Amino acid sequence: MIEITSMSKTFNAGTTNENKALDDVSLTIRENEFITVIGGNGAGKSTLINCISGMYKIDTGTIQIEKEDVTPLPVHKRAKYIGMVFQDPLKGTVPSMTIRENLIIAYIKNQFHGLQLALNKKKDDMFREKLQLLGLGLEDKLNYKVGLLSGGQRQALSLLMSTIHIPKLLLLDEHTSALDPFTSEKVLKITNDIVTQNRIPTIMITHNMEHALQYGNRTIMMNRGKIIMGISDEEKKKTSVNDLIQKFSMQTEENAISDRMVL
Ligand SMILES: Nc1ncnc2c1ncn2[C@@H]1O[C@H](COP(=O)(O)OP(=O)(O)OP(=O)(O)O)[C@@H](O)[C@H]1O
Ligand SMILES: [Mg+2]
Repeated sequence: MIEITSMSKTFNAGTTNENKALDDVSLTIRENEFITVIGGNGAGKSTLINCISGMYKIDTGTIQIEKEDVTPLPVHKRAKYIGMVFQDPLKGTVPSMTIRENLIIAYIKNQFHGLQLALNKKKDDMFREKLQLLGLGLEDKLNYKVGLLSGGQRQALSLLMSTIHIPKLLLLDEHTSALDPFTSEKVLKITNDIVTQNRIPTIMITHNMEHALQYGNRTIMMNRGKIIMGISDEEKKKTSVNDLIQKFSMQTEENAISDRMVL
């Protein structure tokens, strides 16, 4: 279980550009929970997951992963627990290296005897087996330079790399939004298979309301650095994209009204 308590983050504090990107956010991600996150531009979605990953240092609050307080840990130490895939297909892999070399890097991450293990010939069989599950024909291309792959293939590979050792938490920041609709659907299906088969607690940010409802077992909505609404698995099944858009505009309007009242 992952427990985030009263997490806040302000950028450029004390300057005219001060911006409270996260405002006292608490969130529990249970075993087997796949949460989709929606919200307008600048709502704080990426900041939320960048604070969880340790990329940004938080001002207040705590992050616990399976009862271990990881709040003081820097990003590279948290990487032991957390897998992450970004929006940009160029970010998660090394283009000048082959698929095999990229997978080896992911495989030896945090492993003391990693290099020795990596030299084991059996690794190739394991890599091929995992690549085959993606259904993209990459299992025959271990020697291909990753730079030659399409954006969708690279995102699928990034996903595989992030989950080659099952993480305690997977963070996905619009990881299919740079892909064409067909490829996006395919990578989402792969994501869903990996997440559900391995029961990985996951947070997936998306601007696609249909995907937010279709995938995962909880949806949360963010606005102005706060989680303003949660939709349970049961509710998701009964909610249409139009309902969601309506709820979103109602909630953001309510927030705006209460802000004005505070002022
Ligand atoms: N590194 C940073 N330095 C300063 N301000 C930042 C930084 N990162 C984010 N912000 C600000 O924090 C707020 C929240 O940004 P964030 O990127 O979390 O939004 P988002 O919900 O992910 O939006 P989008 O849908 O556009 O990706 C925004 O006002 C943004 O300008
Ligand atoms: Mg973002």
